[in-house]
Amino acid sequence: MEKKQPSSNDFIVIKATEDGVNVIGLTRGTDTRFHHSEKLDQGEVMIAQFTEHTSAIKIRGNATIMTPYGELTSEKK
Ligand code: TRP
Repeated sequence: MEKKQPSSNDFIVIKATEDGVNVIGLTRGTDTRFHHSEKLDQGEVMIAQFTEHTSAIKIRGNATIMTPYGELTSEKK
């Protein structure tokens, strides 16, 4: 099967609505583990893509997330 190429639809936008929001990238492949953690303070924005190395993105903390499927918010428990 052909390798999936990253496309512009793979981008998501994360805007932190509090200090200390974590954006965590998880690896693609048989081994699913954290490979990168980025801390955002209130108002900071991260534009991230699903890539050959990143199959999932976990967001901890209060943030607004814009995806090709819609906009949602993450919340603290
Ligand atoms: N080196 C990572 C990659 O190419 C960078 C990255 C892309 C990333 N998307 C991410 C890190 C999302 C954290 C969250 O896959």
